[in-house]
Amino acid sequence: MGDPLVFAHRGSSADLPEHTLAAYLRALDEGVDGLECDVRLTRDGHLVCVHDRRLDRTSNGTGLVSVRTLAELEALDFGSWHPGCVPPDGDELPDESHTRLLTLERLLDAVLAAGRPVRLLIETKHPSRYGGHVERRLVALLRRYGLAEPDPDALVQVTVMSFSPLAVRRVRDLAPGLPTVLLLEVLPRWLRLGRLPFGTRIAGPGVELVRARPRLVPALRAAGHQVYVWTVNEPAELDLVLDVGVDGIITDRPAHALARLGR
Ligand code: G3P
Ligand code: CA
Repeated sequence: MGDPLVFAHRGSSADLPEHTLAAYLRALDEGVDGLECDVRLTRDGHLVCVHDRRLDRTSNGTGLVSVRTLAELEALDFGSWHPGCVPPDGDELPDESHTRLLTLERLLDAVLAAGRPVRLLIETKHPSRYGGHVERRLVALLRRYGLAEPDPDALVQVTVMSFSPLAVRRVRDLAPGLPTVLLLEVLPRWLRLGRLPFGTRIAGPGVELVRARPRLVPALRAAGHQVYVWTVNEPAELDLVLDVGVDGIITDRPAHALARLGR
């Protein structure tokens, strides 16, 4: 098999604040094949790129993302918590690309403006809490950008990921052409490796699961699935996934993975 694709997890998020425009632009500069982001809904129905349910870890706000409006979230600082936010010489203030909330629209604009091939992995967070709103908003937005019906000649290719088979089903019902990834932290008893649910062709096991179940990746690939593994940050983890042979590496340190692949 050829080299795996390298995806920047929340951007180049070891070096710069996760889910900021600066982290994504850095990853594109480093030469990644694609970007990973998480999306949540604001109280007024906007899709924003935030991993946690709460604001506390990655911003100067507190409480739930879902009870804030976009305008309220725009007023927060999403970067200064991260050591990479301050330039090494320390005498400049970080610009807003390092600190501003990233909406999915702004990320799509940036990816389309890059003018080079980008694979975008969008993970919908907590479909069970929002009763399908996240997936409906997502597909509507992708449709507005012309990204919901995959075009092999397009520079930007979107894939939707979730830990929830329900979310995968919703996406495939709304946009049957969109590729989906079923993320796996553990192996659920109901999972049949030969047949991922709802026509999903890509499995997304965590690197710990790959380590614990060495036959998992070959079995998935033998069944005709692609395998994207997260979050592959340490050299030993890179060795593991390269040994076993995967199709995609999702990492906070894309420059390290690219260097390891000689790219
Ligand atoms: O890329 C999949 C991975 O991001 C899933 O875990 O918690 O980082 O969203 P999490
Ligand atoms: Ca994620």
